[in-house]
This record gives sequence, C-alpha cells and structure tokens, in this order.
Amino acid sequence: MKTILFPVLIAAASLLAGCAPRTGSQTPRGSTPDIEARVAALLQAMTLEEKVGQMVQVTLDVLTEGKDSLSSYEPVVLDQEQLDRAFVTYQIGSVLNTANNRARDVHEWNRMITRIQEAALAGSRLNIPVLYGLDMIHGASYVDGATFFPQQIGLAATWNPSLAEIAGEITAYETRAAGVAWTFSPVLDLGVDPRWPRQWETFGEDPYLAAIFGQHLVRGLEGPSNDLSDKYRIASCLKHFLGYSQTLSGKDRTPAWIPENKLREYHLPPFAAGIEAGAMTVMLNSGEINGLPVHADSYLITDLLKGELGFTGMVLTDWQDIEYLHSRHRIAGSRKEAVRLSVNAGVDMSMVPYHFEFADHLIELVREGAVPMQRIDDAVTRILRVKHLIGLFDTPYTLAADYPEFASARFAEAAFKTASESITLLKNQASVLPLPKDAHILVGGPAANLMRPLNGGWSYSWQGELVDEFAGDHHTVYEAIRELSDHPSRVVLYEGVRFEGTGDYREEAVDDLDRFRQLAGQSDYIVLAVGENSYCEFEGNTTDLALSRNQQELITLAAATGKPVILVLVQGRPRIIREVEPLVKGILNAYLPGNYGGEALAAILFGKVNPSGKLPFTYPRYPHSLEPYYIKHTEQLTVAGIPESTAFNPQFPFGFGLSYSGFELSDLQIDQDTYLPGDVITGSIQVRNLSDIPGKEVVQLYVSDHYASITPPVKRLRAFEKVHLQPGQTRRVGFEIPVNSLGFVNRDNARVVEEGLFTLSSGNLSVDFRVEKTKVIRSK
Ligand code: BGC
Repeated sequence: MKTILFPVLIAAASLLAGCAPRTGSQTPRGSTPDIEARVAALLQAMTLEEKVGQMVQVTLDVLTEGKDSLSSYEPVVLDQEQLDRAFVTYQIGSVLNTANNRARDVHEWNRMITRIQEAALAGSRLNIPVLYGLDMIHGASYVDGATFFPQQIGLAATWNPSLAEIAGEITAYETRAAGVAWTFSPVLDLGVDPRWPRQWETFGEDPYLAAIFGQHLVRGLEGPSNDLSDKYRIASCLKHFLGYSQTLSGKDRTPAWIPENKLREYHLPPFAAGIEAGAMTVMLNSGEINGLPVHADSYLITDLLKGELGFTGMVLTDWQDIEYLHSRHRIAGSRKEAVRLSVNAGVDMSMVPYHFEFADHLIELVREGAVPMQRIDDAVTRILRVKHLIGLFDTPYTLAADYPEFASARFAEAAFKTASESITLLKNQASVLPLPKDAHILVGGPAANLMRPLNGGWSYSWQGELVDEFAGDHHTVYEAIRELSDHPSRVVLYEGVRFEGTGDYREEAVDDLDRFRQLAGQSDYIVLAVGENSYCEFEGNTTDLALSRNQQELITLAAATGKPVILVLVQGRPRIIREVEPLVKGILNAYLPGNYGGEALAAILFGKVNPSGKLPFTYPRYPHSLEPYYIKHTEQLTVAGIPESTAFNPQFPFGFGLSYSGFELSDLQIDQDTYLPGDVITGSIQVRNLSDIPGKEVVQLYVSDHYASITPPVKRLRAFEKVHLQPGQTRRVGFEIPVNSLGFVNRDNARVVEEGLFTLSSGNLSVDFRVEKTKVIRSK
C-alpha cells in the first residue's frame, strides 16, 4: 500500500486559514532590490504626463486604419498617425485585445506587436516598453492554430490540478509565440450561481477547489519561480476582484449584496491564493457590491487587496469601467469625476479602451490637487515593476521562430488528456456505456456537428462565433464517434435541432423529425449532443435555466423510439434537465471541452477512456433551487411527501461523477480525537478499485462544524486527491488538514476557529473529533 500526501493542499489551506501573505522585508513581494532601484530612478525622471500615460490602456482597433476606433479595415494595418498619438502625444503604457474581435496567426501577431513595441520605444524619452495584454483564456485563444483546452469549469471538473498547470504552461508558450507576455487569466470568481453567464469561466462553486486550481494555473502561466522574464512564461491577471459572480439577478454586471463576512469567507480565498502564487496583476469586478461599484471602492482595492493581502502588483480596471461609473452606475456626475473616484480608490491602470480622455482628465485632476501625486507615483511604480518583472526592457517582444513546439502533437495530447479527465459521467443506467464499437449509432442534437459549442466564448473571438471557421480541422462529436467506430458507416448524423447562424446563441431550428424517427429506428443507440451554443458575458444572460424546449422535445421524441438514449451535455452552465433525465439511459457532462472535446467524448463513449471527472458545482434540479452545496441546515428541511418542498434536492450533487470502475472507500483514520488551533489533522483513508479495468477516483474530504456562533454550513470541502488505481488495487491516501482552516469569518469579520465537535467525512465514512479551544486566527 502506498501513502500519498497532499502537498499542494496544505499551502492553500493555510490561505483559507486567513494568513495574509507578507514578505517582512523592504523589497515589495515578488520584486527585487535591483528592479525597485530601476523603477525608482525612472519615476524620478518622469513628467506628470509620462506617468499618467503609463496608466492608460487602449484597444488595438484604436491604433489601426479603420473608419473609427471601434473597428479596423482588413487586412489590419497599423496607422502611423494613431501610433504617434498613442506613444508620442500620450505616452500610453498598455494595449489590449485583437482587431475586429478576430484571432490572428502568430506571424500577423508578431508583425503587429513588433511595430507597436518599436513605436512605443521610439516615442518614449525614457525607453519604456508597452505592455500588451490578451484574453488567452483556455489556451492562446486569439491565436489561430493554438492549442485549446477545456474552459476553466472543465479544468476544475478534472479535480486534477496538475492538468491546470500544464494547460497554463502551454498557453504561456503559445502566447509568447505570438509575441505577447500577459494574459487576463485566471478567473477566480466563484461559480456560485448557474444563471450567471460566466459560470463556465470559473473553477466552480467551492472556494478551496478554486484556490487550488487558481494557484496551479498561475504557476503554469508564470512558472514555478514566477520568473516572468522567462521567454516561455507570461504574466497572469487574477480577475475580477471581488464578488463579481454573485449578483442578485444572476445576470452579468447587476447589483450584488454580499455581507463582508461572506465576501471574505467564500469569494476572497481564491484571490488570496492567486496572490500567494505570485500573480502581479489583478483586474477589478465591473459590478457593484452593497451599492458601491468596486471600481470606486477604496476599502476593497486599497485596504483589502493592497493592504491586507499585501498585493504589490498593479490593479487594472475592466473594460470601460471608469467611464461606466458615470454613464451606468451613476455615482459620478461626469467622466472626469469618475476618473477621480477610481484612481483615488486605488486603480493603477485604466482599460479605457477607446480613447485617451482618461489621461487628459487625470492630468487636470492632479494639477487641481484632486488626485494626490503620491497616488500617481504608487500606480506608476506598480506598472513599471510589472514591466520590469516581465523583462520587457530587455526583451520587448518574442518571435514565433523561437517557439517550434507551437501547436505540436505533444500539446494536443495534453489538451485531449485534460478534456478526457474533465468529462463527467452523471448517469449510466444498466451500464449502457461504454457502447460497442460496432453499434449502429444515430448522433443528433445541435452540438453534434459543430466546434463552436465545444469551445464556448473566448475562442478566436469574444463570443466564439468564429470557431467553426478557425477550428474546422478538429473533430466534432459526430466526426470523432465515426472516427473511432469499427464501422464508420454505421454512425449516422441527423441533428433534429440545430443551432442557427453566427449570432445569438439562443437561435435554433428544428429539422424534419419524421426523418429523425426513421433513422432512430435503424440504430441501436441514440447519442444526443445537447446544451448551449457559445456566448460570453452579458450576451449569455438568461431568464430560463431549463434546457431549451426544442432540445427537450427532441430528447422526449428520441426516447419514445425505445432506443437507448445517451445525452452528451455541451454547456457552460448546468441547464435544467429534470423532466427528460428519467427518459435517458446515460448522461455525460462535457462542459466546454475545447477542440479535443469531440475526441475525448468518443473515447469515453466507446470505453477507450474511463471517465473520471466530478462536478465542480451543484447541478440544480429546479430553477428556484440554485444553492451551492455548502448550504445551511435550515436549507435542507423537508415537508414529508412533497418532494418539491425539499429545499436542497439537486439533480446531481457537487463532487459527483461516475466511472466505469467501481470504487470502495474504507478505514478513514485521523491521528487524534482532540486538537488545538494551530494543529494539523493528519489522517488517511483507503480506496480500492473493485473493477477489472484501471480507473481514477477523487477522494474528497469534507468537514462539518456541529455548532458555531454563526450558523455553520452543512459541510465544506477541506482536502481532495485524485488517485489512479489498477484493477483490484488498493491504496491508502494520506491527508493533512490544518485546524485553522476549519475556522470561519464571524459577525465581526474576524476569522475564528471555535471549540466544539466536528465531523470529517468522505463518502459514507465519517469520524468525529473535537477542537479544544476557541481562537481568533485573524482579527479584522
Ligand atoms: C471582461 C474581462 C476581459 C476584458 C478584456 C471584459 O469585458 O469582463 O474578463 O478580460 O473584457 O477583454
């Protein structure tokens, strides 16, 4: 028997225990004395205009020939006059995004980045390079030919953080091939509300899981020592600080009401973990919390992020968000007032992104004494620190020729493996899966033969509508099933319902359903790839979480043929399937698995890969029951005989996922039955593969605090490990859980661990222990 420890868990657990990262030395965390000296010298030499220029970020369309700053002519040509305006007149510090919202190949990127960098250096009296940033979200998503991984929700569903690290490493490599050294990733918002259209961009609903995955993705992007000048690594950006995901309406960028203890208990730990992992840039939440837009909230930005968490990197706004303080949020009477509010609150760089007006306003505000020079110096110091850390002063750009592994077979294999480990088997009645390789299969549903739904947003464009144009060489679900079948001619495509057009993700068309019935009659199995077409941000807002009516009717019709139906859910958030679930024999949740998702699905359908994904969120059964698993005890009361009254009765629980193997947990042990704050609970559990095939199981350890001074949640995930077991193999898995990580943020917003009885559980096993003393781990 082998003992495995949980090395990564301990570090994150200490974060959850509320230890704020500090260096204790004079040198800001993540920097060096040399860099600090160079930054200070530059700052000393800079004029106010030069300093303010560094704080400006514009979008690429502003710098190109085109009819306005919102779009560019194709082929894209950089406009010398605009370059001069940006880099000579305004001396701006940063550029983002692609032109015309469209992916480019590495050579086009290299040409553009080189020329922009040269223009910046030529325009800058002090040779300050420009910092270029792109949303490289599940791979180098704006680079034609790059390797696309599952979206973050799929990464989390692997419960294998090392895969997130590899995904980050490959994303960094391919981003550098394009000449860019900064990505706006990872998203560390908690996916607590399935209505929210950005749930797929998150690592799911659990703060601990999100913290661990965030740390690994940052490490993959930045490298284990955060040496951002390494030409194979890039800078990450933790977003969107803080509390973005939990709006009252479930719609993007609408008001949130989150008490501070909840903000600290659930939303903060992933960001604390990302900062601990060395991330040096943070993007803000575009929304408001308790009536105050985060972009104007000096408590969150300056006191909490820069002060308490000790963040020494730079804080970036989200798209146009300073302007929106005036035009949308209406807390600033003018755009200039909006600049004053946000810069004074602690914003370092403004993603303006369509003009240079921010600079004009800010210069005026400083001259008027409305924004202190000290604040400008702090912002510019942070920006220059990041530019130095990235090594831009020495290597202003990189070139594709130095990145021969771009789009290599090795990278594709990693993306395939990640997709394979993410896909989650939710139902397998009478072991309908895996399918025989000689079966006659009808493949239907709107996601059956498109690459767009497999990838989702942030894929070649913001909304993902160009995916089929760029990813045509990859295999759709249908193509991949056909490819792997022993008799490709027995695999037939007939969608029944189709996603239409390149725009609105909701558009659907219904085919001739008699033809569908006829083809079903000739098949042994029906595989239906259903779910959502791609969308991003507010364009994905929804008023109905149910799977679309057309798709539910198709499932009903397919089931009525009497042939076994297998649902493949291709979706960014869990669409409600309560009424059709009983009609089908098998269900696979694919999330948004990326360009290798079709192949991964086919491999699982035919048993070439044994599924091992687990839900990183609670899959809801009812549209009015959307609670994450860490409910309070009052949320699980039942009125006898009325199932709908059961407040917590999800379709599938958090952490759920089947395998073609069976596993058995036994002998859960811990080293003591009483502990003190500061102690570490050391324990182990045995897990056995009962099947005759190799398989992977995720050991999940939850802790429940029986009584607490504010109502305790029913349970919280405190440790996990994915283990690979050979047929019949048994392994003992070790774990360590710091007692301080079992604390909570109380009414005074202090983190406290309280004495009393606790239960540690995994599957059906549990063991009780006591904590002997109450201790404040971090007072506010
Ligand atoms: C999104 C960010 C993104 C930014 C830059 C915004 O609309 O909220 O997540 O990084 O645009 O493209």
